Amino acid sequence: MTVTFRINGAETQVSESPDTPLLWIIREHLKLTGTKFGCGAGQCGACMVHIDGSRAFSCLTPLAYVAGKTVTTIEGLSRDSTHPVQKAWLAESVPQCGYCQSGQIMSAADLLAQTPKPSREAIIEHMSVHICRCGTYPRILRAIERASQGDE
Ligand code: FES
Ligand code: FES
Repeated sequence: MTVTFRINGAETQVSESPDTPLLWIIREHLKLTGTKFGCGAGQCGACMVHIDGSRAFSCLTPLAYVAGKTVTTIEGLSRDSTHPVQKAWLAESVPQCGYCQSGQIMSAADLLAQTPKPSREAIIEHMSVHICRCGTYPRILRAIERASQGDE
């Protein structure tokens, strides 16, 4: 099956089985390796991308689902890492090993797009689908609060 969709602003066509996980397409076909494989089962958030502007687990999304849709990965979130969430991440020195971080940033950007001034509880709830083995949770919380205050 050939599926046409937009990714990071460019139209692309991929010929693969329709049930191939989008994560595989992103990493193996399109060589966009910022999106990570963690569990492959919707349990860790490492694979998070945006589909039509809302976050989605790319490991659970079949290729056929994105036909005609718009996908954004960490590579396309901003042109030069100047999205407010990325700037706040840098200001708070959030990453440790970095493996989980692109997924965390994509979720944080999704949250602030829907709710520009979320409560601390709303941030914790929204980000609870992510696992960070390095325990960067307090810095993630601070970075999202910083970005929500326009205090990059
Ligand atoms: Fe998708 Fe873990 S790899 S949620
Ligand atoms: Fe290492 Fe999150 S920074 S897993």
